[in-house]
Amino acid sequence: MVSYPRLFIANWKMHGSPEMAKAWLPAVSDAARRQSATAKVVVCPPVTLIHLLSGGGIALGAQNCHVAEEGAFTGEISASMLKDMGCSYVIAGHSERRAQFGETNEMVKQKAQAAIAAGLTPIVCVGETLAERDAGKAQDVVAKQLKESLPQGQFVVAYEPVWAIGTGRNASPADIESMHAHIAANTPKNTQILYGGSVKAANTREILTIQGVSGVLVGGASLNADEFNKIIESSSPPNGGVR
Ligand code: PGA
Repeated sequence: MVSYPRLFIANWKMHGSPEMAKAWLPAVSDAARRQSATAKVVVCPPVTLIHLLSGGGIALGAQNCHVAEEGAFTGEISASMLKDMGCSYVIAGHSERRAQFGETNEMVKQKAQAAIAAGLTPIVCVGETLAERDAGKAQDVVAKQLKESLPQGQFVVAYEPVWAIGTGRNASPADIESMHAHIAANTPKNTQILYGGSVKAANTREILTIQGVSGVLVGGASLNADEFNKIIESSSPPNGGVR
């Protein structure tokens, strides 16, 4: 069962500037406040912009962390350092990191566990490639990712089919519903399960009506404050009240 508020996570990836962050925050804060009964908004900008996005009633997150708390790891940032910056969430195992930076399920699990140890909530990403879906292996791939990447403790899962990320293609409502049910069957009761992949204002309301979808992880469309506000505004149930 989906409970409110739903999670609306903005993943800026390697985009954004100080000017953009300073304009985005007040614009999105207003929408986040108006929708606070139904939407919890989290922004995951590049680390260099985190300090510019605090204080607007929006939770802060990061896009990655190292598994260790400190050490000789040039260029890396630990979960406790993110916590010190005011973060409460961190994405772990985004498919871009799995594919481009060689992150394995085991590394994702270690990162997610490090996040929990630092007091952050990890958003653990799972999802199949198009070849895996076409081969009928989507559910097996996701089950393996869950089995091997999930930490002990409190976490959020984001189902992001790799072929739907940044492509303008969404999974069909039936595909989303069956994968979310599959994920729910493989995670502790009441785990929040988000959908991600080409989410935009025009499709959020429909995605949120799908059984088992607790929120959305938004990449490209989160960079534009007006577009992201419309996505947040889709959190109200169609009947106007809180279910
Ligand atoms: P997209 O990215 O919304 O641009 O498809 C989603 C994500 O990668 O988290």
